[in-house]
Amino acid sequence: MTSQAADVLFRPFRLKSLDLKNRIVMAPMTRSMAPNGIPGAANVAYYRRRAEGGVGLILSEGTVIDRPASRNEPGIPFFHGDEALAGWQAVIDSVHAAGGKMAPQIWHVGSVNSPLTEWEPASGIESPSGLVAPGMRRGAAMSEEAIADTVAAFAKAAADAKRLGFDTVEIHGGHGYLIDQFFWSATNGRVDRYGGATIRERSRFAAEVVAAIRAAVGPDYPIILRVSQWKLQDFAVRLAETPDAMTDWLAPLVDAGVDIIHCSQRRFWEPEFPQIDGEDGLSFAGWAKKLTGAATISVGSVGLSGDFMGAFGGESSSPAGIEKLVTRMEQGEFDLIAVGRALISDPHWARKVKDGEPLNGFEAAKLAELA
Ligand SMILES: Cc1cc2nc3c(=O)[nH]c(=O)nc-3n(C[C@H](O)[C@H](O)[C@H](O)COP(=O)(O)O)c2cc1C
Repeated sequence: MTSQAADVLFRPFRLKSLDLKNRIVMAPMTRSMAPNGIPGAANVAYYRRRAEGGVGLILSEGTVIDRPASRNEPGIPFFHGDEALAGWQAVIDSVHAAGGKMAPQIWHVGSVNSPLTEWEPASGIESPSGLVAPGMRRGAAMSEEAIADTVAAFAKAAADAKRLGFDTVEIHGGHGYLIDQFFWSATNGRVDRYGGATIRERSRFAAEVVAAIRAAVGPDYPIILRVSQWKLQDFAVRLAETPDAMTDWLAPLVDAGVDIIHCSQRRFWEPEFPQIDGEDGLSFAGWAKKLTGAATISVGSVGLSGDFMGAFGGESSSPAGIEKLVTRMEQGEFDLIAVGRALISDPHWARKVKDGEPLNGFEAAKLAELA
């Protein structure tokens, strides 16, 4: 593909105080290489390289809020405490110096345990109903006080992101972690105002998180929310089987203050509701934009032949063309596109697309280092 054909990816994007030079977003990717939860020089250099490589917006790896068991691996960075925030300050200063823009992805893992380590937090594993998957107990059901403290911890993290100079903030609301455990009926059996038979009722916790963040960051600071139908616990499960259900899920979150919905799917071209608009129909990000009017980010196997679940089993992936992506962007289906593994393998992926240079695939061995 010539550089000209990919022009659509290099149009600027503006929303509130956010001003991006192109549409390419680095997907949030946990690397578990922040010793004692503190980002250090290696983490600074890792993000700076992606800014130098021309990425429009970098989303950090998931970085956790101030709750006792908000992380499930010891190398996951904190987004609280003076030392960790000083580390993040160095990250954002370095990214800005290289001409990049960045958001932290703020996260609480809920009751999900890591598939990679036996490590566990000393205490305090929490979830909506003491479940991690259908019928599988893990963590304590959260009290109203724990919920209020968690909402406040998300708001504090977002306020710190803004204070440190990050350009926007992303809330991790997908993949079966805490916020998603409230969305999912199988892990949310609460009978108070955080539970209920409908997805609209189970969206209340997320809406409170978003509203508290909005109050903390003011009206002009963009808020991104990442959501997914799939869960680590069950790739096939869906929160919304119809557009109406998707509206019930996402519209209250946009009303609460979300500006950009980051729609996580494994392959960006897969139709969300093929029964309605066919096998070439709109993706999740396409439907979310159409139904809510919010800006959206799509993601999933950009520039690669295989999807990301294989990466955890050591699978590499060969390069694939980006023609389908360009077509969908030209049709205005979504606003931004996130790129994950291709950017782990090659920090200069965005620049190479712009210059029409050949693209690399994904080498799983690259996951072992912070290069
Ligand atoms: C090593 C690795 C770590 C990931 N960690 C996160 C994470 O912390 N937060 C998140 O929302 N998604 C995470 N993901 C999912 C990615 O953000 C992305 O959605 C997925 O890799 C699909 O994009 P790709 O096909 O371009 O790699 C991770 C993926 C990989 C491969």
